[in-house]
Amino acid sequence: MYSEKVMDHFMNPRNVGEIEDASGVGTVGNAKCGDIMKVYLKIDEGIITDAKFKTFGCGAAVATSSMATELVIGKTIEEALKITNRSVAEALDGLPPVKMHCSLLAEESLHAALWDYAKKNNITIEGLEEPV
Ligand code: FES
Ligand code: FES
Repeated sequence: MYSEKVMDHFMNPRNVGEIEDASGVGTVGNAKCGDIMKVYLKIDEGIITDAKFKTFGCGAAVATSSMATELVIGKTIEEALKITNRSVAEALDGLPPVKMHCSLLAEESLHAALWDYAKKNNITIEGLEEPV
């Protein structure tokens, strides 16, 4: 049912934890299942230099958070905005259809952390919408 990559990122999640002096923090919850994801980003001159996460949720949510933090480190804000739940799922060699909603948490928490960063710095990030 799960790809080897999903199992690997679930068993050995990368970048678990928090960043104390994070540039932006985003927390999102999934109303359907109650799972929660929190993402911390460190941003330096427009580049995401570090990312950490804490996920209270299912295996697919843990695996997608892990993969999303891996994908986002080293990217510019503009590139980070292009990370979608589909690209995270693809990087994991796919997710079962019933688990696709879990990967949405990863996309939304990244966006929420970027929004927080923009708000703190009084800047506008083009293409970024306010998280609901
Ligand atoms: Fe129970 Fe996600 S709802 S593991
Ligand atoms: Fe809730 Fe996966 S079941 S995020």
